[in-house]
Amino acid sequence: MTKARKVEQLVTGMPATDGAGVELVRVIGQPRLMDLDPFLLLDAFRSDNPDDYIAGFPAHPHRGFETVTYLLNGRMRHQDSAGNEGVIEPGGIQWMTAGRGIVHSEMPEQEDGLLEGFQLWINLPASHKMTEPGYQEHSAEGIPVESRPGTDIRVITGETSQGTKGPVSQPLTAPLYIDVTLEANTEFKETLATSHNAFVYVIKGSINIDSNLLTRDQLAVLSSGDSLKLDSCDEGARFLLIAGKPLGEPVQRAGPFVMNTREELHQAYHDYQSGRF
Ligand code: FE2
Repeated sequence: MTKARKVEQLVTGMPATDGAGVELVRVIGQPRLMDLDPFLLLDAFRSDNPDDYIAGFPAHPHRGFETVTYLLNGRMRHQDSAGNEGVIEPGGIQWMTAGRGIVHSEMPEQEDGLLEGFQLWINLPASHKMTEPGYQEHSAEGIPVESRPGTDIRVITGETSQGTKGPVSQPLTAPLYIDVTLEANTEFKETLATSHNAFVYVIKGSINIDSNLLTRDQLAVLSSGDSLKLDSCDEGARFLLIAGKPLGEPVQRAGPFVMNTREELHQAYHDYQSGRF
């Protein structure tokens, strides 16, 4: 028996400034949608004005969760306290498990032109918040594209109903992260794990989910169910479909730290200030 997921809540991203003065759109992690277990934050950045992004995100810490950067346009240089360094290129993904702690910087590797991408924060369960930091990095070539009529699906993690598997592995929250491009007036159908919370975020064009029209920068929190059906409108559409297994644990967050208790947050600040990251 199938139960189609509906739109439970429609959220429009709100303008925000973060890092050293980067202009972005905050979609998850804002008053209208503080989180969607296990997702803690979704930022979208898209600008061809260097003033909006040039300041970047200088050295800052993280503990207790994962940061996932997916770039569509432009280049971002990443450097961390453990000596790791690299550049994320268009179509590339960096899946960083901050675990017990990392200090890193994320800076635009360009002085002009379009910078466009997303950062998603995914929580870690209490049992893994203090895990060793690690990365899963893949360039555009490493991300499989599933083709259906009028449809391209980039699979970053998880597996589609047609068996295309993304390169990133995260069994703790078993996420699905796909980037879907639809031609005009094209239907998209996909199965989704009933255990997972799921959302759709529109990058371009517009889509219709069960008579709810979503346009650029709008996110639909989906109700429970095992499938999703939507249609693109006349101009076609591009959207992210993301799902993950909720952790159901208490969340205490302060800036770059997300733990289970206030005590652990204090500990995180203390450890960071005493240079233990
Ligand atoms: Fe960061």
